[in-house]
Amino acid sequence: MAVAELEREVRRHNHLYFIEHSPVISDYDFDMLVEELKRRKPESKVLREIGNDISGKFKKVRHEVAMLSLDKAYDLKTMESWAEKFEGDIIVSPKIDGCAMSLRYGADGTLQLAATRGSGTVGEDVTPNIRFVKDIPQKIALKNVEVRGEIYMPLSVFKRYKEEFANPRNLAAGAIKQKDPTKTGEYSLSFWAYDILGAGAKDEVEKRRLLEKNRFPVIEWKLIKKDKIHEVFEDYLKRREKVDYEMDGVVYKANLVSEQERLGFTAHHPRFGIAFKFQGDSGVTTLKDVEWSVARTGVITPIGIVEPVELSGAMVSRVSLHNYGLMKKLGLSKGAKVMMMRRGGVIPNLEWVVEKGKGEIEAPRKCPSCGSKVELRDDFLYCTDAKNCVQTKVGELKHFVSVVEIDGLGDVLLEKLYAEGLVTDASEFYELAAANLSTLERMGDTLATKLIRNIQSRRELPLDVFLRSLGIREVGRHTSQILAREFGTLEHVLTVTQEQLSSIHTIGDVIATEVVGGLKAKSKLIDKLLKFVKVQKGEPKNEASGPFKGMSFLFTGSMLTMVRSDAEKLVEEKGGTIASGVSKTLDYIVVGDGGGAGSKLDKAKKLQSKGEKVKIVNEKEFLKLVKQ
Ligand code: IVH
Repeated sequence: MAVAELEREVRRHNHLYFIEHSPVISDYDFDMLVEELKRRKPESKVLREIGNDISGKFKKVRHEVAMLSLDKAYDLKTMESWAEKFEGDIIVSPKIDGCAMSLRYGADGTLQLAATRGSGTVGEDVTPNIRFVKDIPQKIALKNVEVRGEIYMPLSVFKRYKEEFANPRNLAAGAIKQKDPTKTGEYSLSFWAYDILGAGAKDEVEKRRLLEKNRFPVIEWKLIKKDKIHEVFEDYLKRREKVDYEMDGVVYKANLVSEQERLGFTAHHPRFGIAFKFQGDSGVTTLKDVEWSVARTGVITPIGIVEPVELSGAMVSRVSLHNYGLMKKLGLSKGAKVMMMRRGGVIPNLEWVVEKGKGEIEAPRKCPSCGSKVELRDDFLYCTDAKNCVQTKVGELKHFVSVVEIDGLGDVLLEKLYAEGLVTDASEFYELAAANLSTLERMGDTLATKLIRNIQSRRELPLDVFLRSLGIREVGRHTSQILAREFGTLEHVLTVTQEQLSSIHTIGDVIATEVVGGLKAKSKLIDKLLKFVKVQKGEPKNEASGPFKGMSFLFTGSMLTMVRSDAEKLVEEKGGTIASGVSKTLDYIVVGDGGGAGSKLDKAKKLQSKGEKVKIVNEKEFLKLVKQ
């Protein structure tokens, strides 16, 4: 490739990644292109543009200290020669694949400015949006400091979107840059802090302590000797699948600020830090065919059938191609050689075409499930008779069964029940008798009786579960819980107006419209279900008479045995509540074993010394309480 072409390519992919948020090549390949350009034309202007995410939608702000990117390494040799150049230990942290954020706190300690990285020297002012990121403190005890870190979307949140968006990083980037700041709030973004400027810290360890004290969630870290570079990399590679964010490598930095200052910067990177990146778990394979699958919503999704390929230890032979539009953009053909990757080591994805094939892929004209006409709206293909389409109907039944948690009703059985006309909507599950089931192939009496028992045991449902079971678009776990909490009873939810809904902080106009319209469209089903199902009042968790009833909990520090949100869920399931801060009324403060407990713990200790009731427990003690 000629240098001019290489520059064009780098520029194009940079734009696709940072502005469009829809890359067509892997991060690894992008890095390789950049490396090649650096080698062949180190003075190229394009190198300075990399990472520029200026969208033009926001006010521009100049960074007081440039936000540079880290140099990258893919091998140990590069890492070792990097480490030779300074004295002292190395501080290591996971590299979070999110969006860099600068937070300036003013003379009174309030958050004054939140800015994206932008070009590195000039970023975009997204302060109103960032106020909706709950992890970020609005006021801290320190004055005139700048905190830097990564905004990211937890993988547990990304799950909700993974069919529509390629990866959490791009979705987070888009979420930050919403014109309407409340929309940013709807995406449940989180934040990990990794740097603080202007606080006069002498080393990285002290910086992290300061951040923790000021209630920032600090990315986990370790202080290591130089001979442990490889070992710690391997450790993180193993941890990668266990954490709730996308980790794309490990960041190493000289611990001492004096050494950092001595090392200084190149034109693009600081010399005191480096990212040792994980290579994408990738492999080239052949696309054999595309199948079309009809989802519950009537959307017809292309599924790539590939020659089985091993990606980070698992064989992959099917891969969602997300939607028709995205599939088209990839330029796929049957027999094409394609690059497959498990993004963040988790979700398999077809990244791009390595070599074109010969067989054309045509969009279906008829719904593969019911034969009705197919319609293209935006990037999505729809079955035009979704209401009556078999797959759609079966999909709705599957959704109900999984939300309501009826054991034993697998896909094959559900399809049979539907095909035989035994169950055509969710309410009809409750009308089934063992005798109906035993007529089905390979179904004995015992199994039939057991299934009926399973179904009948799910006749009392919490309000949020009931709402979610209806399969209304946008009414997933999060929204259904909000509805249950805000409105309390099903009767009340059924009469809410769009205005009432959109005034709730994490619900925007789009969701409000879907909810109101969806509830109306499902009114028949709701009536039918209510003949069999008793819907409990909202927030049953708080009313529950679990062992934690009336007790409040607060978590601090990073947990090693589970993610914090799961721990909080456990508390709520047992009838307890999560406190918003340390106060006299707090019963338990749970200190994570992963370190990082800061001011909350100090405050709890103080209260304890004054004879208040708060108990301080570690993870093990907490788990014991849960099991009691
Ligand atoms: S330290 C010079 N620590 O990776 C910047 N950065 O190219 C030094 N990142 O833009 C930052 N996780 O946004 C640091 N644990 C971590 C990080 C991290 C992700 C991002 C950061 C930076 C990019 C490096």
